[in-house]
Amino acid sequence: MTDGARDTADAHLIAVVGCGYVGLVTAVGLAEQGMRVRAFDVDPVRLAACRELRFPILEPGLEHAARLAGERLTFHDVHEEAWPDAAFTFIAVPTPQGEAGYPNLSMFRQVLMWIADGQSRASSENVIVVRSTVPPGTARWAQAEIQRLMGEAVPVVANPEFLQEGRALQDFREPSRILIGSENREAADRLRELMAFTSAPVVITDTSTAELAKYGSNAYLAMRISFANEMARLAEREGADPLVMLEAVGLDPRIGSRYLKPGVGYGGSCLPKDVAALVSMGSAVNEPMELMRATQEVNDLQRRRIIRTLADGLDGLDGRRVAVLGLAFKPGTNDVRDSPGLQIARELLTAGADVVTWDAAVTPDLLAANDAGLSITNDALEALRGADAAVLCTEWPEIVDLDLSRVAEVMEGTLLVDGRYAWDRSAASDAGLDLVRIGSPRVVDGTAATV
Ligand code: UGA
Repeated sequence: MTDGARDTADAHLIAVVGCGYVGLVTAVGLAEQGMRVRAFDVDPVRLAACRELRFPILEPGLEHAARLAGERLTFHDVHEEAWPDAAFTFIAVPTPQGEAGYPNLSMFRQVLMWIADGQSRASSENVIVVRSTVPPGTARWAQAEIQRLMGEAVPVVANPEFLQEGRALQDFREPSRILIGSENREAADRLRELMAFTSAPVVITDTSTAELAKYGSNAYLAMRISFANEMARLAEREGADPLVMLEAVGLDPRIGSRYLKPGVGYGGSCLPKDVAALVSMGSAVNEPMELMRATQEVNDLQRRRIIRTLADGLDGLDGRRVAVLGLAFKPGTNDVRDSPGLQIARELLTAGADVVTWDAAVTPDLLAANDAGLSITNDALEALRGADAAVLCTEWPEIVDLDLSRVAEVMEGTLLVDGRYAWDRSAASDAGLDLVRIGSPRVVDGTAATV
């Protein structure tokens, strides 16, 4: 570090690369703390929308907070503007599932090249902060790579996020913990200072430990959900009440009640990808990750179970009209990445069913081009009109609170498959509907073992 670098690095200027979920929340969250934030992306359409504060993600309070931040938050195209001499550069680009489940780090590598090309100067005054979920060893490798490309050392710190979609800004303001992995204590302390607006516990460790802890958190949540799903299926078989059974388990303070809700299985852009990444990392070092494999298998089984239940209940799917209620991977978001509802809708279509969908937040433009054949209605009762069966995949309040007697009036058939344990059994039977929850022995009897 030179004195010149110390003079010019702007302590209140932050660069954030990637205007997706993590990047936008980080950018807005820091801007509302008084920092000047320059958010970068490669997608001109996304950038144009962000400049008008019409974010491509549905996140409560985010656009409002960005409006209040005013000119402290600006959006830039990585191809058009030089890298600012920021005190911190946050990398928040996707690391999607790649070959054999291992994360694809190509976007992450590309960002390092942009930083090296675009930043006129590098010094220990600039800290690169990795917010993307990356395998252990990545930040250390990135630091060596930056030194190789720029000829100067810039500390690279791992700072995984624990933001839940739908409440991400709140999670940013009040995180459960701040996790900082760094080989450079001064850089770690500077990041800790930046995050001093929260009173959350801070864990400072080495980069690989921080990187692996992020995978550990998501994997543990996924494992709990698969546990809940497996136990719920057994409960149905034994004539026990799955929800009461799991509530009783969760009341043990050593266990806790969260992430024990059974249903169609976990989805989204994080849990499935991170479990797959651990399986792949384990096999790379000859350390079989058996619990992770079982977690995946149980999760896949839940989705297959729904299709099987519909096929059995309707005596085949070809030509049957099925309403799929909920395409977002959970309520409160318009994200359809690895969404159970969307996957089920696609499989029903492939099996020849006539599929009508409804979602509170997903609009046709959010679906992939090859989903053009899926019809989306904006009224749940319209989706149910004339349906032989309906399946609840996302527990939006609009669906959970539906008047089941109205549902019975508009449907042609009587089969309701509840993928979220959300509808009331007696209300369904009072309305003359056949409510089936995943694993119900009545429908899958005799064939369950082969599902
Ligand atoms: C998850 C983690 O919860 C965050 O801590 C983490 O920061 C984030 O991934 C990430 O790595 O970026 P998110 O993907 O928003 O957040 O989703 P969750 O709210 O955790 O839900 C994941 C899935 O599990 C959803 O499909 C949800 O419906 C399902 N789920 C959740 C259940 O089936 N049962 C439950 O009891 C809880």
